[in-house]
Amino acid sequence: METQYDLNDLFDKGMELFHITNTAYPLTPVSLMQYKITDREKYRGFLEADFEKCTQLSLYVHVPFCKSRCKFCEYVVVSGDEVELKQAYVDHLLTEIKMYGELVGRNSANKPKIVGFDIGGGTPTELEIPQLEALMTAVNEQFDLSNFFTKSIETTPINAVRQFDKLKIIRELGIPRISMGVQTVNAKLLENMQREGGIAIYREAVDNIRRAGFTLLNIDLMYGFKDQDYDDFVNTVNYAISLEPEYITLYEMRYKLTKISSDASYVSKAKLNKQYRLAFEILEQNGYIANYGKNTFSRIPYDEGTSSYLTRRVINATPYIGLGAGAQSFGHDYLAYNTGAANKSIVKYMSDIDEGYFPIQDIYDLPLEESIAKAVSVMFYFGYINYREFYERFKIDFVKRFYDVLKYADDWGLLKLESDRCIITKNGVTHMNGLIPLFYSERSKAELMKTKPLS
Ligand SMILES: C[S@@+](CC[C@H](N)C(=O)[O-])C[C@H]1O[C@@H](n2cnc3c(N)ncnc32)[C@H](O)[C@@H]1O
Ligand code: SF4
Repeated sequence: METQYDLNDLFDKGMELFHITNTAYPLTPVSLMQYKITDREKYRGFLEADFEKCTQLSLYVHVPFCKSRCKFCEYVVVSGDEVELKQAYVDHLLTEIKMYGELVGRNSANKPKIVGFDIGGGTPTELEIPQLEALMTAVNEQFDLSNFFTKSIETTPINAVRQFDKLKIIRELGIPRISMGVQTVNAKLLENMQREGGIAIYREAVDNIRRAGFTLLNIDLMYGFKDQDYDDFVNTVNYAISLEPEYITLYEMRYKLTKISSDASYVSKAKLNKQYRLAFEILEQNGYIANYGKNTFSRIPYDEGTSSYLTRRVINATPYIGLGAGAQSFGHDYLAYNTGAANKSIVKYMSDIDEGYFPIQDIYDLPLEESIAKAVSVMFYFGYINYREFYERFKIDFVKRFYDVLKYADDWGLLKLESDRCIITKNGVTHMNGLIPLFYSERSKAELMKTKPLS
């Protein structure tokens, strides 16, 4: 594909702006403004037409409640008086599920197959057992979840310790995979981040998860904190391995819009790269495998380690509906953020539903080039792009479309070109922020080139 930009310039600019040129696309919340559907009366018809084009679909349900908000957290989590609105929130969530069910639901022919289902947050285990049961009942009533795929849910260590009965019920509701954030074993860092946890509870949390019958456990760890030295992080990785989860996911701290965003400038790209490299070596030595650059490590052969929802999202760019406040949806040709994404509040989300509207804050009717840029950015989360899956989704030959970019990336040792996929090299991983923009749309390349670096 022809571009008016010099690939070297794009690459250098991507590297310079590494805080934003990551696997999340677009660059800013207002980047796609020109594609926004502004009249909410049009949402229903637009969504219906988009789902007609989908043969497969995943669902994500967002639960924005936590015991308290960790200072590093970037997600939609409510605070203050809204914490008391749990039951009202669930009631509205059930309505939203029904609204989408009526558009995509289970009963008529040619409806897309559901191939992924995750409940995330926030902390979904903050919901009470009857609320979780009602949620699963509503989803099963509206959608056909009978295909075989791995459903997943998230919890925290403190909830796993205190809520054995709830874990058992969740397992009985047909969810075999659970993900729990350990983040770090450094007590001081946990305290600074106002996060409950620590070695005193992590093992008991895992024991409870196992006793409840979960056979697929993922543990999240974080790196890239200002006050996190290498020994600290190595201790954390070793400790997580000692808990024997099936999977371990490394999260590089993303500072944008967090309470500690001013720490971002203290963390260099070199430090982030070294932390990842250290963790990769230790994990690999202990049988946790991922291709270099990927964040989820698995000790189960032929298992990517992520839930079906996320695996599909990354490898296949399978469309998904995000349900709940602030949830993101990426349809066949649209990107949307539910109400609450910007102000991290559930009040407007609920009033949109009360007024009979889809609770959407922003929805963009994407041209193909933007959908491709979004999908390819996300694919780098696993560090490779499968040509056949790309073709299945976009009906475009990836190699032909990106011939010049692939040649450039091959020449510079950023990507290794194989017969069925291109895979990021070790050099590519440390330069991923330069590599990703090469696949951007012309609009986002222009946006990137005129963005100023963080001061
Ligand atoms: C939605 S959170 C849910 C997990 C659960 N509430 C917990 O904290 O254990 C999923 C993971 O995202 C990661 N995370 C949270 N804030 C982040 C940020 N600002 N940048 C990168 N990763 C982040 C954490 O590792 C967290 O476990
Ligand atoms: S990291 Fe988890 S527990 Fe902490 S605020 Fe975010 S979602 Fe809640």
